Amino acid sequence: MTIKTEIAQTIVDPRAYADRDRLDAAFTELRHNAPFDIAEPEGFDPFWVASRHADVLEIERRADVFHNAARSATLTDKAGDAFVQFVTGGERNLIRSLVQVDGQEHKDLRALTFPAFTPKALKVLEEQIREIAREFVADMLAKGPEVDFASEVAFLYPLRVVMRVLGVPQEDEPFMLKLTQELFGPNDPDMNREKKEVPPEQVMQLMQQTMLDLEGYFGEVTKKFRANPEACINSLIANAKIGDDYLTHRQMMGYYIIAATAGHDTTANTTAAAMWALAENPDVLAKLKADPSAMQGFIEETIRWASPVKHFMRTAIVDAEVGGKPVKAGDWIMLSYHSANRDEDVFEAPFEFRIDRPIHKHVAFGSGPHVCLGQHLARMEMRILWEELLPKIDTVALAGTPKLTQSSFVSGPKSVPIRFTLA
Ligand code: HEM
Repeated sequence: MTIKTEIAQTIVDPRAYADRDRLDAAFTELRHNAPFDIAEPEGFDPFWVASRHADVLEIERRADVFHNAARSATLTDKAGDAFVQFVTGGERNLIRSLVQVDGQEHKDLRALTFPAFTPKALKVLEEQIREIAREFVADMLAKGPEVDFASEVAFLYPLRVVMRVLGVPQEDEPFMLKLTQELFGPNDPDMNREKKEVPPEQVMQLMQQTMLDLEGYFGEVTKKFRANPEACINSLIANAKIGDDYLTHRQMMGYYIIAATAGHDTTANTTAAAMWALAENPDVLAKLKADPSAMQGFIEETIRWASPVKHFMRTAIVDAEVGGKPVKAGDWIMLSYHSANRDEDVFEAPFEFRIDRPIHKHVAFGSGPHVCLGQHLARMEMRILWEELLPKIDTVALAGTPKLTQSSFVSGPKSVPIRFTLA
């Protein structure tokens, strides 16, 4: 059996991700009636959709069977796939980053920066990050009582934090933000470089132009840090060796690009969604102000609620079985983190924002060997921002209608107008 055409079209439609009722209705129907089944939307190769929490976890865990790189690691239509194969000489992904490698190569590459992203290693950054948070909070309070929290705080603060960790100078931040948004939101007219709706067959071309700009920039970064190494992630990447050899050009560019882009739009979308939730749930704001120990539950719920990474794709490299269904070698599978995080079998009342849920159940950071490298950094920077901001405000309410980015990959609120009162 295949998934109903209307649902299949919805889950590949970037506009559906900006219309949460439509998206949630489609995935709820899938979880109930076709939890692991094949979608055949027009213009795309057929793919399985894993909409349940248990199936997403199982596929991620069996990373020897379900690979990232065999086909595109993110949803791509047929025209995009053909374009990628044309420009890369037959590969299925435009870049070769941690996300687009498997097995030993993935282990070797991940081991290069993994130690820098552990909670212990990040602890030394706590004060620096708190300084950055204080600046953004002071700026927001000065601009109040009305601000667009998404564009004025949520999108800029994680960018500054990640760029500091990577070793990117502050004056290059707007360039990095622009290129990340172009990569993650090529279907959204507010985000892509054409600043208009583009036909599907043009999306990959736009993304490749963005990649070329990033490669130009990072070529200079390599020269700089090989000449003068510093204590930052970009310097680690520039000087990293596997065995006796520096990373290949393609490995190095992929590494810079994933490190520079994976960390801020994701955290930004979560932070913006969290403020939206606070504006709609005054009891949560009151609880957090009265009881700081509720913070961890709040952070985890905001990550589940936002699920800013909507999916990644896997490809079966041998015949296998998932959810009682036979999957063939070569089959392509969508892991819907958004849907898994609303699975009624795991989350009671999944469409309610509840900060007292059991911790560590959501799969918003993925799972298995590819689990988000920056998860501890993301949690820490969000905690620090809320610790700095919440004691200073008394109430917050929406001052307009929030808007979501049109993207089936990384999506969340691009605008959250709020009105607040000071404590
Ligand atoms: C991978 C989510 C923040 C760096 C991932 C994956 C997800 C994800 C779903 C794929 C996991 C999988 O395939 O199982 C998020 C969310 C974030 C966030 C929801 C914020 C709330 C960050 C930050 C960084 C980062 C701050 C640091 C710079 C990475 C990298 C990977 C990754 C490098 C690739 C890991 C690999 O394939 O081995 N993230 N992420 N992310 N993330 Fe994050």
